[in-house]
Amino acid sequence: MTTDALTQARAAYDAFRARGLKLNMQRGQPSDADFDLSNGLLSALGEADTHLDGLDLRNYPGGVTGLPSARALFAQYLDVKAENVIVWNNSSLELQAMVLTFALLHGLRGSAQPWARLPGGAPPKMIVTLPGYDRHFLLLQTLGFELLSVPMQPDGPDVAAIARLAAEDETVKGVLFVPTYSNPGGESISAGKARQLAGIQAAASDFTIFADDAYRAHHLSDDGQDTPVNFVVLCRDAGFPDRAFVFASTSKVTFASGGLGFVASSEDNIKWLSRFLNAQSIGPNKVEQARHVRFLQAYPGGLEGLMRDHGRLIAPKFAAVDETLRRELGESGEYATWTSPRGGYFISLDTAEPVAARVVELAEAAGVSLTPAGATYPGGQDATGRNIRLAPTRPPLDEVYTAMQGVAACIRLATEEYRAAHG
Ligand SMILES: Cc1ncc(COP(=O)(O)O)c(C=O)c1O
Repeated sequence: MTTDALTQARAAYDAFRARGLKLNMQRGQPSDADFDLSNGLLSALGEADTHLDGLDLRNYPGGVTGLPSARALFAQYLDVKAENVIVWNNSSLELQAMVLTFALLHGLRGSAQPWARLPGGAPPKMIVTLPGYDRHFLLLQTLGFELLSVPMQPDGPDVAAIARLAAEDETVKGVLFVPTYSNPGGESISAGKARQLAGIQAAASDFTIFADDAYRAHHLSDDGQDTPVNFVVLCRDAGFPDRAFVFASTSKVTFASGGLGFVASSEDNIKWLSRFLNAQSIGPNKVEQARHVRFLQAYPGGLEGLMRDHGRLIAPKFAAVDETLRRELGESGEYATWTSPRGGYFISLDTAEPVAARVVELAEAAGVSLTPAGATYPGGQDATGRNIRLAPTRPPLDEVYTAMQGVAACIRLATEEYRAAHG
């Protein structure tokens, strides 16, 4: 029986491989069609548009918090006031790195000492969710943080586990995670859990929530959307006004690498951050900020309208993944289980047997490039051996269908190989 299943699985895989395809399901990037929606950015400013908000876009003055119209626009995006936002340059990940670095060198507001100089030389600890985003792990480990992990659950991080870790150790300085349509599983934190997290009693008085809200507006449809939370307000209401930094960008709204990154926090934290930004820069790129303001204001329906158009392009690709996996692998979990997010950029798949690395290897050999197995765990080490991140946004829709057929064939073959070898 098993041998039959193995023989069939191998034949299906060989047939797929013989097609000699070259497909890529690993890059969490917008498609060319997504980019095309924002081509108007490239001509959003004309030669006469030298000024905005009474500022000369070509010259230094303007300060480090960003162009007033850009602050207003992205404050609305993050559901806070303009005074609570800094709009910076092209990367929210860089903003995360800067805030964490300033915390290490100087401490946050109210810190007893810089996070890099804790008593007894202890390393600062940061909680992350698993599976998670590889660049968060890389950033934190590069900066010298020791990582603690909690599971990502369908309604967001395991907040009870975060509360336990934070309560017992004052070197646990915070949690970094994706609150809406998480990378890689697409989970969003519920309102209840967000409120609990905002109010946890931590041993460290400067315990901080670093919310990387990269996908807060990235819904796949108009109905059935997850509701993003507002950690700046939740933390203020919980009596910890300086507890949250919320990061986001337009990398998956307009142009990846050619967009704008921004951060929201309490007004006091914005002043704190401005002081350090001012020491390293006279100010961000106001021309890019003005371009985004003009383009997004002119887009039909504004930023929301643009996100709706992205949703229309991306939703069929998520459906293609789900539909193909259901058809090829069934819904019983015999071969794999996977998430069905209502937004974001990724789907997280767990194989029934610990064969993720073998699946990725087989896929590569058959011309389908997948995110390396283990990438969703710190150091690339997935002790479960089961998790694979699927990224359907970049390839055209027909290629997503084809690639997923191949991925399903790889999962079947790797599973049957494993079962034949392990009885
Ligand atoms: C969760 C998350 N945060 C941040 C980023 C990168 O954002 P940025 O381009 O603004 O640095 C990504 C990109 O894939 C992401 O998935």
